[in-house]
Amino acid sequence: MNSAWSALENSAARLSSTHLKDLITTSDRYSAFSFRHEGLLLDLSRQRLDPQVLEELIALANSQGMTDAISKLLSGERVNTTENRAALHSALRLPESAELIVDGQDVVSDVHQTLARMEEFVKKIHAGQWRGFTGKPISQVVNIGVGGSDLGPLMVCEALNQFRPDDARDIDLHFVSSMDGSQLANLLLELDAESTLFVLSSKSFGTIDTLANAATAIEWLQERSGLSRELVLKQHFIGVTAAPEKAISWGLAESNLLKFWDWTGGRYSLWSAIGLPIALSVGMHGFKELLAGAHSMDKHFSEAPLTENLPVLLAMTGIWNTNFQDIHAHAILPYDGRLAHLPAYLEQLEMESNGKSVSGQGEAVSHRTCPILWGEIGPNAQHAFYQLLHQGTERVMCDFIVPARRYVDRESTLQDQHQLALANCLAQARVLALGDAALTDGIERPSWQRYFGNQPSTVILLDELTPYNLGSLVALYEHKVYAQAVIWGINPFDQWGVELGKRVANDLITALNKSSKATYDPATEGLLDAIQNLRESR
Ligand code: F6P
Repeated sequence: MNSAWSALENSAARLSSTHLKDLITTSDRYSAFSFRHEGLLLDLSRQRLDPQVLEELIALANSQGMTDAISKLLSGERVNTTENRAALHSALRLPESAELIVDGQDVVSDVHQTLARMEEFVKKIHAGQWRGFTGKPISQVVNIGVGGSDLGPLMVCEALNQFRPDDARDIDLHFVSSMDGSQLANLLLELDAESTLFVLSSKSFGTIDTLANAATAIEWLQERSGLSRELVLKQHFIGVTAAPEKAISWGLAESNLLKFWDWTGGRYSLWSAIGLPIALSVGMHGFKELLAGAHSMDKHFSEAPLTENLPVLLAMTGIWNTNFQDIHAHAILPYDGRLAHLPAYLEQLEMESNGKSVSGQGEAVSHRTCPILWGEIGPNAQHAFYQLLHQGTERVMCDFIVPARRYVDRESTLQDQHQLALANCLAQARVLALGDAALTDGIERPSWQRYFGNQPSTVILLDELTPYNLGSLVALYEHKVYAQAVIWGINPFDQWGVELGKRVANDLITALNKSSKATYDPATEGLLDAIQNLRESR
């Protein structure tokens, strides 16, 4: 690595015996380490770094050509080198007046044509004009998808449920993803086939999990309606895909398709037609607010100096922790139940993007890359895994995410509940940093009641959780992931690591059906035998 990397190694040695409690008590700590973009405040005061480290991190970003890399991403260069294409999720939120030519085509006009088609679908469904096989208006919408074709819309719909306009209130939204059919089987027990619409979301239109759930949904609808597969698909299915020809040959009507583009990565796709459930939930106005918030973060990422650039700062503190502080676990802790699915969403975004050990040039990297992410609604996790954060042997970096204002228009115990969540969020960040020093009672405690502290955390304070601010928050994390990939020299936009398992599973299906005589390793053969014996013994 270069001299900027060495400078950080020296700083890590310099600070190795400094406790976080001694770093955070300087009077200008908060003003020096908190940064704002519109309704979003990034507070890095509880990170184990000082002003010199921050300067050195920015120097590292500069030495890796960060500014140039950002403009390559946003201008549509082929930053996804192993798949030789652009990664243009930011184009999905460009305003209609913008222009971005990629391969001779203005992608912005394509994007807005699709948004207009989405709007037609949304209006028709909200107006009760999309009818099922008996003429009943659709009132239940089930998104069938997995990974990026599930987690983004699921996370946002849950987060923004309170923003549903009146005309969307009669629509219930459901999400099914699990390949074994358990979510769908339970849901089908409750649904009324006459008024149920399925949204089949799959970028590749080849994902077996999704196609298997779709087959079960079709069978259920055919049983209840007595209609042909073709008619069931025409009246009760919308497809969202970047492979329309596959969807059509599978049987979907072209008029029921919403398309997006291969330059939209699956985990970056909630801004595309994959966001249809979001638009059905919060209306097109709400969906466009989400896009506008993300676009504003794109502009900030592109224009703000690196020293004030929120995604870059968030990325570089992660680099500091991973590569210079030897911390390899990262907890995502929203203090707002509406963000319940944010940890799962970020797990895919970060680990599927940066869980790589080979550089863009195909060489093994010589440094650590993406840490292990996990998370939970913070207050619930306080009653579960926080024990490890406070007294375990693992070093963990934490992101606390919380809105400052909630229930503003109500005088109620709910406001008290929000205060409670805020107080707990601040308390946990404080105790993780200070440890025992958070108490000033001077009482000596036995070792099992001691808190070491020194665990770094970031607080992201939203003014309020709105569609606009959520858009900014998600874009902040997307760009953080990219900025880290730039430092690590990896491609965050492919996911070859998940392909082999799928291929081997296809092979094993034939073995489970007893139609293959292929030999496997003894461990796999042992389990195959055990399964066959158990099946035969019924
Ligand atoms: O298996 C990984 C993956 O390809 C993800 O990247 C993607 O979000 C998910 O599967 C679903 O893919 P698709 O939208 O093509 O069905």
